[in-house]
Amino acid sequence: MYKKIRISAPGKLMLLGEHAVVYNRPCLVTAVGQRMRATVELTDDATFSLEAPDVKVTSYSKPMSELGISEVPKGAQFVELAVKNFLEKYPFTDGLKVTTQSEFSSQFGFGSSSASTVCVVKALSELTGKNLSNKELFDLAYKTVLDVQGKGSGFDVAAGIYGGCLYFVTGGKVIEPLVVKELPLIVGYSGIKADTVTLMNQVKAKAMKYPEFIESLYTEVAKLVEKAKSALLDNDLVTFGELMNFNQGLLESMGVGIFKLSAMIYGARDGGAYGAKLSGAGGGDCMIALASPDKTQAVKQAISAAGGQVIEVETNVEGVRVEV
Ligand code: PMV
Repeated sequence: MYKKIRISAPGKLMLLGEHAVVYNRPCLVTAVGQRMRATVELTDDATFSLEAPDVKVTSYSKPMSELGISEVPKGAQFVELAVKNFLEKYPFTDGLKVTTQSEFSSQFGFGSSSASTVCVVKALSELTGKNLSNKELFDLAYKTVLDVQGKGSGFDVAAGIYGGCLYFVTGGKVIEPLVVKELPLIVGYSGIKADTVTLMNQVKAKAMKYPEFIESLYTEVAKLVEKAKSALLDNDLVTFGELMNFNQGLLESMGVGIFKLSAMIYGARDGGAYGAKLSGAGGGDCMIALASPDKTQAVKQAISAAGGQVIEVETNVEGVRVEV
């Protein structure tokens, strides 16, 4: 058995279905090439220590017996509670030294928190010889996300574990890997940091006031996701792009669009993209566009002209893995 292990897990981008997927609907998500990396080491003292410079956590430590108890700095929450949850289910007596390092900024909304949660759960599964299945890893990591943020579908956790492109239903009720090609996706960062929980709460407040409208939006989103899944499996990017545009309209109706994202989205469409939409909770973070190779340059220029920052991503990449 290892005493020290290095693990990496990919970030994610929501393709279609955000917000509706929190309420028992499906979504499509892809894992992206930028990875979260973690080194996890069993130690002889019963101390938990964490270095996570990307989220401003340095030289943080406490007794293993106090995980999740005394105050936990924001940047340490996911990792600390992941260890606590693992320990409760599969007790062990060693201490732990965890270091995380991200290949992407936590500002982008690529799921750095969930990817670090996935890395830690996978590391503990290997270090303790439990060799948990992907679904067991998912359940532990998803519980951790819910413990920290109270709500969420778990789509980001699934992308981190399984990788590839997934058809995913709330809480991992369905996690279906899709055999598809790499997607010609162009990503634009708005420069505005969005808070996922705040946006989920905004949509919830709207659903309380207008239950029949918001429910029917979720149901329409679910139909789009089903159609988009078929389009993706058929490699029909024209249809997939059109469905992205439909989804953007429904997200606007939910109230999570902002001017800057719309400017980037319309720019990308004018530049010849098959389709473009926001990706994730909205209110900032990133937009995505799907475009044929001959249109890539024009779409990137349009996104930049609208004030966005183009981020190069590889899609459909491998899920969590042990690094040698
Ligand atoms: O903000 P992001 O990129 O983590 O995406 C959130 C997507 C939601 O559907 C709004 C929430 C969720 O957990 O599915």
